[in-house]
Amino acid sequence: MPSLIALALCVLVAAYFVNYYRCFASNLGAAKQSGIPYVISPIYTFNRFWLITHRLWLPLLHRLPSAWTSSWVGYLTPEWPWRRLHEPFETVGSDAFILVSPGHNTLFVADAEAITQITTRRNDFPKPIEMYTSVDIYGKNVVSSEGSNWRHHRKITSPPFTEKNNHVVWMESLHQAQAMLTAWVGKDGNKNRTIADVGADTMRLSLHVISRAGFGVRLLWPHEEAGGEANSNIAELQKGHAMPYKDALSLLLDNILWVFLMPRWMLANSPLKVHKVAYQSFLEWGKYMNEMYQAKRDEVKSGETREGMDLMGALVRGAGITPESSNASDGDAEKGSTSSKQLLSDSEILGNAFVFILAGHETTANTLHFSFLYLALNWATQEHLHKDIDEIFRGRPVSDWDYERDVPKLFGSMVGAVMNEELRLIPPVIGIPKSTGKGQPQPMTVNGRRVVVPGDCYITLNTAAVHRNPKYWPAGPQRSNGIPDLEDFKPERWFLDPSKSHTVAADEATDSEGEDFGGSKGRDTSETLFRPPKGAYIPFSDGGRACLGRRFAQVEVLAVLAVIFQNHTVELAVDEFATDEEVETMPPGGPERREVWQKAADRARYLMKYGMSTMITLQMREGHVPVRFVKRGSERFAFS
Ligand code: HEM
Ligand SMILES: *[C@@H]1O[C@H](CO)[C@@H](O)[C@H](O)[C@H]1NC(C)=O
Ligand SMILES: *[C@@H]1O[C@H](CO)[C@@H](O)[C@H](O)[C@H]1NC(C)=O
Ligand SMILES: *[C@@H]1O[C@H](CO)[C@@H](O)[C@H](O)[C@H]1NC(C)=O
Repeated sequence: MPSLIALALCVLVAAYFVNYYRCFASNLGAAKQSGIPYVISPIYTFNRFWLITHRLWLPLLHRLPSAWTSSWVGYLTPEWPWRRLHEPFETVGSDAFILVSPGHNTLFVADAEAITQITTRRNDFPKPIEMYTSVDIYGKNVVSSEGSNWRHHRKITSPPFTEKNNHVVWMESLHQAQAMLTAWVGKDGNKNRTIADVGADTMRLSLHVISRAGFGVRLLWPHEEAGGEANSNIAELQKGHAMPYKDALSLLLDNILWVFLMPRWMLANSPLKVHKVAYQSFLEWGKYMNEMYQAKRDEVKSGETREGMDLMGALVRGAGITPESSNASDGDAEKGSTSSKQLLSDSEILGNAFVFILAGHETTANTLHFSFLYLALNWATQEHLHKDIDEIFRGRPVSDWDYERDVPKLFGSMVGAVMNEELRLIPPVIGIPKSTGKGQPQPMTVNGRRVVVPGDCYITLNTAAVHRNPKYWPAGPQRSNGIPDLEDFKPERWFLDPSKSHTVAADEATDSEGEDFGGSKGRDTSETLFRPPKGAYIPFSDGGRACLGRRFAQVEVLAVLAVIFQNHTVELAVDEFATDEEVETMPPGGPERREVWQKAADRARYLMKYGMSTMITLQMREGHVPVRFVKRGSERFAFS
């Protein structure tokens, strides 16, 4: 009997390897036919088993003779696109190459022309939606669908992203930025305490903005609550809940990986505390969204209209729920059914409401977080930023800032350049997934050569790599250590020769089908700044499936940077290396002070490279860079 089991096992293992080899051979054959350079790897990086256990095997692989492994061992961690940036494309000698592995072929792209073909031929290069099921925890939505389903979702979800609503984003961002600043520097703006985890605060800020814009719920900072500022709608909302509104959402976002990964029933019955918290916050936030949705339905049905941005309201109206629509259509009405004209089901409305939070929260927070860190490392840039903000606002208080007048100016100034440069270097989404269908190879032009992307191939648009591709960016001199200038944070590069910027004819082109549902109209960068060639700068993706919240995010980032830097400077905190008293005794600008700062700067730069990994977005997960916000004029480290 045991020998029978052993035999069965052997057969299974043998079958596994035969299949493994057959897949490998067929993937390799497809790559060879494509005409695209390829690299062969015996392991598929995103194989589940490998993902979980690669840390065990990698040290062993590194011990093998490098002649066997050197061409592929650098692709075996999910972090490689961030660690290696544009270098693999230089090594392979092509800005598009296929990584062949038994599990899947993946085409990696850092070529602007190829990227543009892929983003504009939306039907030829669909999203691999099986990769997106994790964002469906409350229902199907605009991010996780394809084809005619996507078109339907996009049509209904894009109307709320209008200029009128961006106005509200602007107002709320100004308010929230002032509250965050007060939390940091006190009411008089002089308190110079160290902010240990500035990323946590930018996350909080962007959550507050999306909560207001999405659901009309204003959230407060601790000092506002302590100051007794009224927030009656929150108290009303929280009745009958086991968790406060804000906790439900932030606990859910903190633990969302469990909700993504585990079947719901398993999560519900797990004895582990994290699982309990994850499950409860999932249920609670679902309840909150549902209540807000029902309230909005009633409001819309009774014909009431409310001022201000309100994504949920727009979803409800967009789904065809109107005062005229049948009062009987409650529950999960089927879209398109005859009894009701509801165009999105209830679960799809919640799915989209939640995906706005998911897509808009971390991305924007990271942009602010890393802008602060880069600025703390670059004093000259900060001086330029201060100067431009002074010119735009001339000391006017925030209450006198004006969306129509001031936002275009901010966009074209150092404030816009800082945002563009931050998104160039650390795009929150470093790999945008696309694919080709099974049995549907796609011809394409790369470097003037006609090639064919095999069918059933994954595609990754390597944003962080194309953003550093010297073909497209005016590069300065190399640093003495040989690191190319394109690795440096230099917002000034966006002011280089705007007259010599690339032509933009292609920019006006829309999706191949000529459709553009608005929302993402406009460009990634201001008209007055450097314009990279189409496809070379894609922090918000491009084409028909570009980011719906681009303008929303840009307005938020510009508003927050302007508020923080009107009267303040961000500096690296050096508490780890010297006390305030010690720093006081070091002459300003002298070598001792510089040395302390340099230690903090080295640590910051290290974390910004090696402390980063990507889950939903690219984020610093291993440690924090502490900073201080000080009144302009009282800087301690005015050098870079
Ligand atoms: C700096 C901030 C942001 C960045 C860098 C960013 C980036 C992106 C990228 C790269 C995509 C394409 C993803 C893919 O193809 O898989 C995307 C899609 C999307 N983003 Fe953003 N995003 C930002 C902010 C926002 C905000 C604030 C919202 C909403 C409030 C938002 C809503 C969306 C939606 C709904 C989609 C899906 C569009 C579709 O597939 O039709 N994003 N975003
Ligand atoms: C911090 O603020 C106090 C006033 O509140 C000031 O006396 C002190 O010099 C400041 N310290 C630094 C390092 O700027
Ligand atoms: C729908 O119901 C609400 C209250 O239940 C009522 O005020 C409203 O007039 C109704 N609308 C229509 C079109 O019947
Ligand atoms: C900066 O200072 C000016 C002049 O004191 C004031 O009017 C403005 O509101 C301040 N800005 C912020 C963001 O606090």
